[in-house]
Amino acid sequence: MPPSRFGAAWFGAAWFGAAWFGAAWFGAAWFGAAWFGAARFGAARFGAARFGAARFGAARFGPARLGSARLGSARLGPARLRLVHTRTMPSRRKIRSSFTRSAGTSPRPFGAPRRGNAGGMNLSTPLDRIAGWSALDAVARPMRKAIQSVLPSGLADVLHGRPLGHALHPALIELPVGAWTSAAVLDFVPGQRRAADLLIAVGCAGALPAAVTGWADWAAQRPEQQRVGLIHATGNVTAVALYVASLVARLRGDRRRGRLLGVVAYGVAGTAAFIGGHLAYRQAAGVNHAAAVPYLAPSDWTPVALLADLPEATPVAAQAGQLAVVLYRDGAQVHALADRCAHLAGPLHEGTVSDGAVTCPWHGSRFDLATGALESGPATTAQPALDTRVRDGRVEVRLG
Ligand code: FES
Repeated sequence: MPPSRFGAAWFGAAWFGAAWFGAAWFGAAWFGAAWFGAARFGAARFGAARFGAARFGAARFGPARLGSARLGSARLGPARLRLVHTRTMPSRRKIRSSFTRSAGTSPRPFGAPRRGNAGGMNLSTPLDRIAGWSALDAVARPMRKAIQSVLPSGLADVLHGRPLGHALHPALIELPVGAWTSAAVLDFVPGQRRAADLLIAVGCAGALPAAVTGWADWAAQRPEQQRVGLIHATGNVTAVALYVASLVARLRGDRRRGRLLGVVAYGVAGTAAFIGGHLAYRQAAGVNHAAAVPYLAPSDWTPVALLADLPEATPVAAQAGQLAVVLYRDGAQVHALADRCAHLAGPLHEGTVSDGAVTCPWHGSRFDLATGALESGPATTAQPALDTRVRDGRVEVRLG
């Protein structure tokens, strides 16, 4: 490679790296300002979100008494700052009381720190707090109903990923993420600008099917997952809007603006991807909640109930070693499934039974009682079934 090209490539890579990190932090601050609006809500305890909260506070309330007051001073020019204790402001109190109420009525989000326990804080802590913010349910509830009303169950199963045996959404986001990442690199490679434009357009087109599967999954999640999911979706919609604006600027010949919008869009998309990772790995949305069954179920015959104690045609909860199971008696035959639904761990023993299948009480997945086979989602995989036998009037189970 000629020295001049090597230098240009090196410069481009370094610039891209710096821009990416800058944009990512900008995205984090944007979310901090938009969704928390104040240092009380945890996000502001991080540097980036604190920056966002300070900006929001300055714009909304005037110079705020926050750690970044110097930033406000710089932005407001020579005007003398009058520091205000924002905790006394009614709107802040209102937001805070709304949050406190919601924390009392919602289960503590998985992994969320207890009140006053700052030792476990990390970048996911603001999202844990959002997960407990029931005010978002006013938005989520009608959206969930609308999505469920327009999705036929067969199509919904495909969108959930039943043919794959796991969620489809993560597979589809490869296209927009890959295209936008490539575009971000090519934007700074001489002679590749048209390719970057094309990749941005491809990414925007690929975002549509990814969004459709994401919304289908979202409509069958628990409330605390849906609250975080709303933030995830808002970030993605914002990223697509920024990319479209970037494309328009490029088509008009304003490449500088187009490239700048692309960098910001990539940062927002990266932040949204981080939130998606939080949903999948911290809140366990989309994972198989029966994956641990082989490690918990007894491999030897283990008594779980007396046959005489089991009512006919009624799901009953029992314990087989470390595994919670649901038993279902059909005459002399007893069926046993892992009790926690593979979709999101709903209690199958509280479900309803018809035509030899149990329907999960949480989101309606149906599993064959004899085999555990999946009849309909949103689960994407079968429910583990255990072998059963009756010895001396006792029902025994084991993993086959
Ligand atoms: S927990 Fe969602 S269908 Fe069972």
